[in-house]
Amino acid sequence: MTENINQEVNFPLIGSRAPEFEAVTTQGDMKFPQDYEGKWVILFSHPADFTPVCTTEFMTFASMHDEFRELNTELVGLSIDSIHSHLAWLNAIRGYTWNGIEKPAIDFPVIADLKMDVAKKYGMLQGESDTSAVRAVFFIDPKGVIRTILYYPAALGRNFDEIKRIILGLQKADAESVALPANWEPGKDVIVPPPGTCGAIKERMELAKGEGYEMKDWFLTFKEDK
Ligand code: BEZ
Repeated sequence: MTENINQEVNFPLIGSRAPEFEAVTTQGDMKFPQDYEGKWVILFSHPADFTPVCTTEFMTFASMHDEFRELNTELVGLSIDSIHSHLAWLNAIRGYTWNGIEKPAIDFPVIADLKMDVAKKYGMLQGESDTSAVRAVFFIDPKGVIRTILYYPAALGRNFDEIKRIILGLQKADAESVALPANWEPGKDVIVPPPGTCGAIKERMELAKGEGYEMKDWFLTFKEDK
């Protein structure tokens, strides 16, 4: 626990614009979110370079980098370490094999946030430490709006199936104007938004008689995934 536990912290909100910053990264200088206009971004922090859980997370992100790119999604990492520490750690990771992931190249940018400017803007410094970020994940849409936020503690590695599911779910909800039920996964039924007027309820009842719809109640209609 830290001395700063009761200090004011900035927490960006879901639905707000991603705070802007300029940073030095392992792939060169970055202007955020301007450099990523038109793309989804997963901006994530890790507590420190050369630590075991973070190493497994970086190996996993590297192994899924192509899958994210195919979803028009870029990865951006961050920790409160120097650029030289980042480069040395990424180079070391290039030599490891774990969990079926062999000698991964980390070719997404990792921000060197030694002054903690970005960490403070994104609420990444919390009660565990004054000098290292929690495991934060910000899902930012192609217009630079924050759409989902996850915070994990240092001791718990993130669930990468869930990180991918969040991108797939947000993209599906946007593309098809639907909502997604508990434990939704691609291919499973989606939810049609509830009607807002008496007339719309009647229309929904008619619609739900069609193939591929299942109406549990006037406000809860499932639709088969296409
Ligand atoms: C880790 O990545 O293993 C780790 C980092 C900071 C604190 C505890 C664990």
